[in-house]
Amino acid sequence: MISLKNISKSFDGSRVLEKLTVEIRTGETFVIMGKSGCGKSVMLKIILRLLIPDEGSIFIDGVDTTNFDEDAMMPFRRKIGMLFQGAALFDSMNVWQNLAFPLFEHTETPEDEIADKIAELLSFVGLDGSQDKMPSELSGGMKKRVALARAMITEPSYVFFDEPTTGLDPVTSGKINDLIIRTRERFGVTSIVVTHDLVSAMKVGTRFAFIDDGKIAFEGTRSELLSSSNPELREFLKDAEWQDRY
Ligand SMILES: Nc1ncnc2c1ncn2[C@@H]1O[C@H](COP(=O)(O)OP(=O)(O)O)[C@@H](O)[C@H]1O
Ligand SMILES: [Mg+2]
Repeated sequence: MISLKNISKSFDGSRVLEKLTVEIRTGETFVIMGKSGCGKSVMLKIILRLLIPDEGSIFIDGVDTTNFDEDAMMPFRRKIGMLFQGAALFDSMNVWQNLAFPLFEHTETPEDEIADKIAELLSFVGLDGSQDKMPSELSGGMKKRVALARAMITEPSYVFFDEPTTGLDPVTSGKINDLIIRTRERFGVTSIVVTHDLVSAMKVGTRFAFIDDGKIAFEGTRSELLSSSNPELREFLKDAEWQDRY
């Protein structure tokens, strides 16, 4: 379980998160929605301690990591696979090198074992035999799939997906949604999915939250989300015009 308590974060005096409190329970795919710039990516980065909150605390699997330094944070970062907005592959490395990188960095895994893991994960994401490809040779959807394989290579118990389907066509988005679901089924991971894409949210989510005004303004099930009377959430759902496509 990941738990955030009263997290606040400002940049240059402007408040992004204000006493945000939320729990992500083991086994769920927790979907976080909210307007652009409301602090969704900031929240993920705060959990990873890539950003430091101004106040509040963070618990990962019951451990208070709020004041951990880089060294102390390392095993907790390894528990969390992250797909950043955009695939963020290393453009100068081929797919094999991109996937091997986290293991070379953090572990003593022998190279033949690394090769086996890479082959298995590429097969899982539907990119068998792509080891030698360069990122420039891959489509947007393929890059996301490589990024997922890379996130899974350290066998994390959590995966954070930051806008995994943004900028993808509906067919490619559908494939990514399926992969998010299969990742939970096959590896038993707990996921956070940040998205604007309500079709994707509805497909992959097991619980939902809406951030507004720096806080969790709504938290609940799919049916609670769709029947919520929170005016900002209603506006968000309406603007998203997703019903036609769902
Ligand atoms: N490292 C940073 N330095 C300054 N401002 C930042 C930084 N990261 C995010 N912000 C600001 O915080 C706000 C929330 O950003 P973000 O979490 O990326 O939004 P989103 O909900 O779209 O993911 C934005 O106004 C953004 O400009
Ligand atoms: Mg973002």
